[in-house]
Amino acid sequence: MISFNPTTRTFNLHLQNSYYAFQIDEQDRLLHTGWGIRPRDAASDDVVSGLSPHLPFDPPWSFITQYRPDEILTFGDVTAFQATLKASFPTLPQPLAAGESAHLPVRDLRLRYLSHVIVTDAQPGLAPTHGIPVENTTPRETLRVRLKDPVQAIFVTLCYRLTPEHDIIERWLELENAGAETVTLDVCYFSSLHLPNGTTELTHVTGTWAREFTPHRERLGIGTRVLESRSLQTSHNTNPFFMLNRPGHAWEETGTVYFGALAYSGSWQMAFEQLPTLHMRVHAGYNPSDDQLALAPGERHTTPAFVTGVCPDGWGGASRRFHAFTRERVLPRPVRDSRFRPVLYNGWEASYFDLSYAGQAELSRKAAAMGVELFCVDDGWFGARRSDHAGLGDWFVRADAFPEGLEALVAEVHRLGMKFGLWVEPEMVNPDSDLYRAHPEWVLHFPGRPRTESRNQLILDFGREEVVEYIFNLLDTLVGRYAISFFKWDMNRLATEPGSVAGQAIWRRHVAGVYSLMDRLRAKHPGLDIQSCSGGGGRVDVGILGRTDQVWVSDNTDALDRIRIQEGYSLAYPARTMEAWVTHEHNHQTGRVLSLGLRFDVAMRGVLGIGSSLNQLSEAELAEYARYIAFYKRIRPVVQDGVQYRLERLEEFGASVVEYVLPDGSEAVFSVVVREYLIGVARPAALLKGLRSAATYAILDRDEKEIYRATGYELMTLGLPLETIGPVGYSRTLHLKRV
Ligand code: GLA
Repeated sequence: MISFNPTTRTFNLHLQNSYYAFQIDEQDRLLHTGWGIRPRDAASDDVVSGLSPHLPFDPPWSFITQYRPDEILTFGDVTAFQATLKASFPTLPQPLAAGESAHLPVRDLRLRYLSHVIVTDAQPGLAPTHGIPVENTTPRETLRVRLKDPVQAIFVTLCYRLTPEHDIIERWLELENAGAETVTLDVCYFSSLHLPNGTTELTHVTGTWAREFTPHRERLGIGTRVLESRSLQTSHNTNPFFMLNRPGHAWEETGTVYFGALAYSGSWQMAFEQLPTLHMRVHAGYNPSDDQLALAPGERHTTPAFVTGVCPDGWGGASRRFHAFTRERVLPRPVRDSRFRPVLYNGWEASYFDLSYAGQAELSRKAAAMGVELFCVDDGWFGARRSDHAGLGDWFVRADAFPEGLEALVAEVHRLGMKFGLWVEPEMVNPDSDLYRAHPEWVLHFPGRPRTESRNQLILDFGREEVVEYIFNLLDTLVGRYAISFFKWDMNRLATEPGSVAGQAIWRRHVAGVYSLMDRLRAKHPGLDIQSCSGGGGRVDVGILGRTDQVWVSDNTDALDRIRIQEGYSLAYPARTMEAWVTHEHNHQTGRVLSLGLRFDVAMRGVLGIGSSLNQLSEAELAEYARYIAFYKRIRPVVQDGVQYRLERLEEFGASVVEYVLPDGSEAVFSVVVREYLIGVARPAALLKGLRSAATYAILDRDEKEIYRATGYELMTLGLPLETIGPVGYSRTLHLKRV
């Protein structure tokens, strides 16, 4: 609910557990009033009436007034600290006093309130256009507050879209140059947040290839801590989400936690700024490192959304809000399909580039026999692609591998009752390719300067419309011709030498190009699903999830490493988007030998996939795989759509215990994996959550054998009677069903 008091000129935004308030001051500036948890007994018309008379930003003991908490911080008005927007104007539309010179460009922007309106159809920039409905399409209120510089002809609209049931406000900016000259934005965040002083404990993730999503918790000092990507994808190094709380005031299931995530997959930045006064601000949006947003006369720009929220129930509460928001309001959910993500087979680690019809057909028969529902052919099926040195860009079937074309394999996969999927990396080209030989000018580069290759590839210039169009036509033809149900959409390098026909706008144009390709393909082929991959988990965010169904989280498939990666992933992203494979006993990334049970127990925590060399498995092993897959299909509705609790995090006792429970408490899945064995230490029993106290639950093992029976009350007070001293690699997945 959004309300405005015309007397105090205060806006109150009310969500299920939280509020957000700001006020128009006597100079028509927007000042942040507060953001936090509402008292439990608050009535819907309980509001805050404005700033307290003791304004912290104008204290008697200081002559500096730049602590003023403007809702939008603009360079010129607030120069000493980070601004949300920094604009450069080529002229000053005012007469100069005698002896003055113009001091161009003018870097002074001041935004003053003009009007506001509450609407229910507002969309942030780069919102999906594929038209596939998300699960929950009920309209949401958006407050739009229009501001203008008193002198320059620039309008800025601050947008706040409310998802009250998850305590989430999406924030974005709409910019409009109504003047006669081009205005450039050197800094353009999607919004800035003001948090209560002392909210300095930051939870985030870091990583690299094969080690994505490592969780970290750190205490911020005075100054600015920056998380960012400086490439054309979201980044392995970190990920655009955060949680913040007062140190000691929040834990997994308790305490006030602020959280945020960017709906954007390119060069982004989140700057956590603690002022000397301990005021805490978060600025997030386009990375200003090389971006420059030029607004021509009459041009408008709408930024993507910064998804923000605050909750009273700890880091777990923040994660569950992110999950539910993504599941219900972000993910495309075609009604044509079964509700759940299919069990996939991907032959990358079984075949690498050694593809043939016979080999793939045999894999597909074994995969189908064990219960796989989607068969995906990975890299190597096209052009001259016999290694990663050649072929990218030539999206035509490799005749030496598939002399009869791909049709025979597709037909076999369909005959076996599976869907067919294909790996593509549409943004890239190998210099050793027909495409590059025909169009060496189609890649990012500065003419006459070196073109640095990474994994022997260069990046296509999506600033050129003809390039995006060319790629669309190729992918469109592939989907139509081979009845493709699934693309694994990869992106395997960082950006260097970002020279483009689009100039510095390439950072945004590339992301817009990728999104538009996905949106157009999905609109034209409603049966197509897409998995986002970028050398593993390099492109995961709330923006890409608006047009992809799942993501590849990491090339690291070692279950013990994976358990940490998945825990970090679960901080912000839901299990139904997390593709997780069971691969070989002898792991290809780490060389570690791990049991099949452990590998399945870890992979079944997300969207199960199989990546093993099935042709080298015995009949008995294949039967074991089949038994696990059948089990996964029984627990899948709970894993993919349930509410997730991290009952025990790795950092506590070296084990990870996760529960998924259906909202009505009728079924749950309990999963434990021991990563480190601390000799002599017994872990506490993990108490389940979200069950019904009065109900009785049967606890079933993989083969549906009832191993225990207890009431919800007992399970939520005493926990499950399982071993709490376990060796490294001990794992268990149990299915709880109300009887
Ligand atoms: C990337 C992906 C892998 C695989 C290879 C193929 O590294 O993350 O899963 O698809 O490319 O070259």
